[in-house]
Amino acid sequence: MRHLLNPLDFSVEEISQLLDLASDIEHNLPKYAHVCDGKKLATLFYEPSTRTRLSFEAAMLNLGGSVLGFASADSSSAAKGESVADTIRIISCYADICAMRHPKEGAPLVASQFSSIPVINAGDGGHQHPTQTLTDLMTIRSLTGRLDNLTVGICGDLKFGRTVHSLIEALVRYTGIRFVLISPQELRIPSYIRTDVLDRKGIEYQEVDNLDEAMPKLDILYMTRVQKERFFNEEDYIRLKDSYILDNKKMQLAKKDMYILHPLPRVNEISVEVDKDPRAAYFRQAQYGVYVRMALIMTLLEVAKPC
Ligand code: NCD
Repeated sequence: MRHLLNPLDFSVEEISQLLDLASDIEHNLPKYAHVCDGKKLATLFYEPSTRTRLSFEAAMLNLGGSVLGFASADSSSAAKGESVADTIRIISCYADICAMRHPKEGAPLVASQFSSIPVINAGDGGHQHPTQTLTDLMTIRSLTGRLDNLTVGICGDLKFGRTVHSLIEALVRYTGIRFVLISPQELRIPSYIRTDVLDRKGIEYQEVDNLDEAMPKLDILYMTRVQKERFFNEEDYIRLKDSYILDNKKMQLAKKDMYILHPLPRVNEISVEVDKDPRAAYFRQAQYGVYVRMALIMTLLEVAKPC
């Protein structure tokens, strides 16, 4: 039995197969309408979510399966003090696969050790968010036709943004990837990403604080929200939250074929005027999230691709 806890749980080859499957799903949706008939997905969300939880649910429904779960810790027995280990033992009796989001780093890993069904990490604290990364990779591959030889700008909260950590870990496995990491000093990438991932692999990267200067070089700009819920004090959040606001004026500095991604939700970091720019890909990205999660559920449940 396999779980997805970290983007590296799949090899580059397996990711390529998964994205091929997701792309076939995108173009032949009706063909997949019954491949998971009778299967159940449990969504165990101890933290707020719109896209991740609902796209998992939509994915399972699109495959003919059913969904059950909870959308906040308050409405589960966690509020009574139940451990993740006990909860997953019970959920294993009710469902065939589960997606878990938890504010504590490593909670889905603990769950996987006590589970008899595949566990998908749907975001653990400020650590990892592998299914967002699969979505990001599908978006980049669909828009540019490749996952190598790209200059990727990542802007905003690189310290607490789990989507950033997972995306960097996944992208360094492709050739010719360069990063421009754009953030205020206090929100730079954690040192384990710098030393264990970027430096160890000899990846070309710059850490800068100026978005305008970075813009002309980028093939992809990945914007992120300052992660309010991970700050220890509100004053720091208020001071840093509007560090970057991408607007049409800044977009004039970018290449004509650069794409903007954002895992969403957006707060102020992308002005709504940018939504009309053909390079704004974040709503398409959310749509790809459904196809990628359909492909992931099929892969972990070892459901054969229909003819
Ligand atoms: C992200 C998350 O939860 O980490 N959202 C998502 O799943 N699409 C990004 C965020 O909350 O800023």
